[in-house]
Amino acid sequence: MDTLGVFMLLILLFFQWTAALAPEEITWTYTGLVGQSEWSEYFPDCGGTSQSPVDVITTQAKYDPSLIPVTPLGYSQHRNQPFTMYNNGHTVVIELPEWMGLEGLPWLFTAVQMHLHWGNDGPSPGGSEHTINGLSADAELHVVHYNSELYPNMSAAMTQKDGLAVLGILIVTGEETNPAFNNILNYLSRIRHADQKAFIPAFDVQSLLPEDLGRYYRYNGSLTTPPCHQSVIWTLFHERVQISVAQLLKLEKLLYSSKAEEPYRMLLQDNYRATQPLNHRVIFTSFSAESGKELSSGEVTAIVIGVMCGCVGLAVIVRFIVKTIRFFKLLQFEAVVVNSSTSSWDVLHNNRPAPMPRTNDSEKEKEKKQDMAMNSTSEAEKKEEPSLSPQSVP
Ligand SMILES: *[C@@H]1O[C@H](CO)[C@@H](O)[C@H](O)[C@H]1NC(C)=O
Ligand SMILES: *[C@@H]1O[C@H](CO)[C@@H](O)[C@H](O)[C@H]1NC(C)=O
Repeated sequence: MDTLGVFMLLILLFFQWTAALAPEEITWTYTGLVGQSEWSEYFPDCGGTSQSPVDVITTQAKYDPSLIPVTPLGYSQHRNQPFTMYNNGHTVVIELPEWMGLEGLPWLFTAVQMHLHWGNDGPSPGGSEHTINGLSADAELHVVHYNSELYPNMSAAMTQKDGLAVLGILIVTGEETNPAFNNILNYLSRIRHADQKAFIPAFDVQSLLPEDLGRYYRYNGSLTTPPCHQSVIWTLFHERVQISVAQLLKLEKLLYSSKAEEPYRMLLQDNYRATQPLNHRVIFTSFSAESGKELSSGEVTAIVIGVMCGCVGLAVIVRFIVKTIRFFKLLQFEAVVVNSSTSSWDVLHNNRPAPMPRTNDSEKEKEKKQDMAMNSTSEAEKKEEPSLSPQSVP
């Protein structure tokens, strides 16, 4: 048989092999023959109109004041029973005990598992599945729950609308090590190959989450891996969690997508799906844009100008106060001067006009002149004016 014949036979065998397999047995990948652009051929839901992940455009997200903080239930009560962690060839999965759950959604949800998505080559573009205004984070943690009020188990819930609730946590890199993530990362070397499983010491799952569980994005979407069922109520937290670059590199370099018995080792990297079209879906936010969004340069300029105007206003007020104080001091001083030339009785009790070296007529004329002068002087000076004229002293 010639080379072409062998090639044709291999192609034929590949299609027969994929056709014979149940969907869950098809070995999908992120790139290659059954890469993400081909997923919908084998898993029709992946071609649906409410797929995840998505890019969150914050200016188009809609504030919904009815979105209350999500409350993890029992996340911190691990009861010292070890967690099961395994490498499924696509990610690292940590199974969660059924007493862990989620409150704050229209139904009660029960925890099932959590897993991660990441890129390659440290803190370089890509890694997270969701993006915010087109920007990705370095990795993303998903905590998966099923609707235990409406459905008996995960497999029944995962095909139904409102069947699942997933918490999405964006992970960025920084200087500091995040000790909570070492509860996972320290044991990755036990599950380097696909299908390997290990028991790991139980730990506080809530310590993996951001502190602020009140500010998040909410939308209806899907599983981000085949079979991509459109059954997920997504909660993507606004606050990101931080791990160190060394921690990210452990995630990116330690695991293989290939099985231990396979001759070629394939690093498990870039296991994130591209963002999917929103298709008229609305992303809701639990926080108003004013308090939540980062400031644009225009807003920064406006704030700087506002602060400067405020400072000028304050300076004017301070000047006014200083002048007022000076006015009262002058008043006191003049009172003392007048006091020394008349009897203290006259000044204090004012029961007859203090002797003035002017007639009533000239006084009225002076007042008129003053009125005219006042109109052309500033407010602060207006107040100050009487202190300089003797008739303000009784
Ligand atoms: C899940 O619930 C469905 C419906 O009650 C049932 O048929 C199925 O066997 C259950 N699956 C598991 C894994 O328990
Ligand atoms: C999700 O879909 C349900 C049912 O269609 C709808 O009631 C709900 O408002 C949607 N939620 C979001 C966040 O869009």
